[in-house]
Amino acid sequence: MSSHSRFVPLVLETDTSIIMIKNYQHSACKSFLFVFFLTLLSFSSQGQAISTDPAAITAGGQLFNANCKACHRVQTKLVGPALAGVYDRAPSIDWIKSFVHNSSKVIASGDAYAVKLYNEYNKTQMTAFTGLKDDQIMNILAYIKSEAEKKVVDDKKTPNPPPGGEPTGGAPYLNVILIGMIIILILLVVILGFLLSAIKRFLDQRTLTEEEKEIVHSPITVGSVTSSRGFIFVVAFLVAALGFKTIINGLYSIGVQQGYAPKQPIAFSHKIHAGQYEIDCKYCHIGVMKGKSATIPSVNICMNCHNQIKSGTTTGEGEIEKIVRAFNENKPIEWVRIHNLPDLAYFNHSQHVNVGGIECQTCHGPIQEMDVVRQYSLLTMGWCIDCHRKTDVNTQGNAYYDKMVELHNSAKGSNTKMKVEDIGGLECSKCHY
Ligand code: HEC
Ligand code: HEC
Ligand code: HEC
Ligand code: HEC
Ligand code: HEC
Ligand code: HEC
Repeated sequence: MSSHSRFVPLVLETDTSIIMIKNYQHSACKSFLFVFFLTLLSFSSQGQAISTDPAAITAGGQLFNANCKACHRVQTKLVGPALAGVYDRAPSIDWIKSFVHNSSKVIASGDAYAVKLYNEYNKTQMTAFTGLKDDQIMNILAYIKSEAEKKVVDDKKTPNPPPGGEPTGGAPYLNVILIGMIIILILLVVILGFLLSAIKRFLDQRTLTEEEKEIVHSPITVGSVTSSRGFIFVVAFLVAALGFKTIINGLYSIGVQQGYAPKQPIAFSHKIHAGQYEIDCKYCHIGVMKGKSATIPSVNICMNCHNQIKSGTTTGEGEIEKIVRAFNENKPIEWVRIHNLPDLAYFNHSQHVNVGGIECQTCHGPIQEMDVVRQYSLLTMGWCIDCHRKTDVNTQGNAYYDKMVELHNSAKGSNTKMKVEDIGGLECSKCHY
């Protein structure tokens, strides 16, 4: 039977092919089947390679937020195209991988799809991500696909999202409290009125002299209230207390600039960039993870996006033109510095953000809601010390601290957390040169 095998036509159905593997021993037939299955396999990996595994999606989401979100959204166009469906429209998954690794190389190679896209996006250069591994890019695609599909379901559930969508959390409660207090006040006035007339009636039943009667029935007027001794005393006391408090506050705030919000040379808004478009703080303040200073972004960073985005929704073209002008004239933008410790003090961002794991907002407040940045914290020595007394050291996954935690636990008992104070955060020399 095996001698006839090469003449039997192959039927491309799975069950028959399996039978064929079992029955036909001829080597030519075997290699043919091998090639056939390889082709089948590679077809399926082209179409379905994007994982739906939740772990891959989560990992991809983190990578997307850290690397791509500055310029891409899944559903909407930002600096770059909306990425939903990119796995279907791009030439191939491999093309996407090389484009993400180094887009300019793909464009330079003359790839028609890439060149067209590049021109469509006004020759905006996408960052090269040479460090991203292939499986990391696959995870990002898994995330994009899951977001793209999720969004469709969400839209069906809520066809008309409320316009603006501003959260209205605390306000209604405040109103309820206010109305409650007004009602209580009115009740109090009514009760006092009743009491007053009751007392008058009670006194009328007594035998009073003419003089006493006059006092009881004297009408209560504004004049009679303001000239009473009690009233004058209360007012004088309040004025003195307020004056005292202002003076004390004034003394405390010498050299303290909390709330300082100068006008900047360009109306740059964190509310639009960090809030509305959710651009990562670290995309612009590149120093925070590595160094002492957070650093203010150079014009080049603005131009990554603004050679594409020429007009804003509220300012028109004027403000963004200033960026382009500064870029063309090669002049730095003269931003006014807001946060400024005196020279005698040393503060390091990477120590707090990278090692300590503290959010920017803990010290700088809700920057992503500010059109104009203002100094949110006091930045006094007391402010630093206070936090060092209260805050636990973030020792998780930091081998440097293992020995210290051990020592700390044996000295203080294992259930007290190690505070910054315990690693020397109150020593003068740590903060003073
Ligand atoms: C600095 C902005 C920027 C960042 C950051 C960025 N991109 Fe892009 N991306 C672009 C622009 C602009 C284009 C349009 C093509 C061009 O101009 O080169 C693009 C195009 C693409 C395309 C092709 C889209 C299509 O419609 O075929 C893919 C895929 C892509 N980006 C993926 C990514 C991924 C993944 C990341 C994160 C790892 C990322 N990009 C980060 C700006 C960016
Ligand atoms: C698109 C770029 C960009 C992003 C994103 C961004 N910033 Fe800024 N940031 C700037 C620029 C430009 C300035 C200087 C102008 C100003 O003060 O508004 C600045 C100023 C600041 C300042 C005041 C600096 C000073 O002079 O003392 C703080 C604090 C700050 N940013 C924090 C943040 C935080 C926190 C985030 C994330 C929530 C963030 N920034 C996101 C560009 C950016
Ligand atoms: C990652 C992309 C990105 C970067 C980087 C970026 N911007 Fe923008 N910028 C935007 C987007 C998106 C808008 C909103 C455009 C709109 O409203 O249609 C915008 C709007 C603006 C506006 C107009 C705001 C308004 O009121 O409408 C100004 C001014 C501006 N940016 C200044 C800057 C400056 C200065 C820098 C550099 C420190 C910078 N941008 C960096 C994306 C970016
Ligand atoms: C523990 C508190 C703390 C945290 C957390 C923190 N900052 Fe700061 N930041 C400060 C202080 C204090 C200064 C003033 C530093 C000085 O004058 O030397 C400052 C200054 C700045 C400045 C202006 C001067 C500079 O250093 O370039 C920027 C911009 C800034 N911070 C951004 C950020 C961003 C973005 C984050 C989060 C990634 C962040 N900060 C997290 C306390 C903090
Ligand atoms: C929101 C809380 C917070 C504030 C505010 C804060 N710090 Fe810290 N600081 C920390 C934490 C947490 C660490 C520990 C980080 C680590 O694991 O090394 C730390 C560590 C330090 C260290 C290193 C201490 C050591 O022993 O290694 C110095 C120096 C320091 N901070 C200076 C300052 C100065 C100066 C200010 C005020 C301008 C300040 N910090 C404000 C939380 C804070
Ligand atoms: C956690 C950080 C930190 C530690 C620890 C610290 N300081 Fe300070 N100190 C500061 C900062 C920040 C300022 C500047 C505050 C300001 O301008 O209001 C300052 C200001 C001062 C000033 C000047 C006060 C003024 O009004 O200008 C003196 C003096 C001083 N510190 C002494 C000390 C001594 C002594 C110690 C040790 C017992 C100490 N500091 C420990 C952060 C620290």
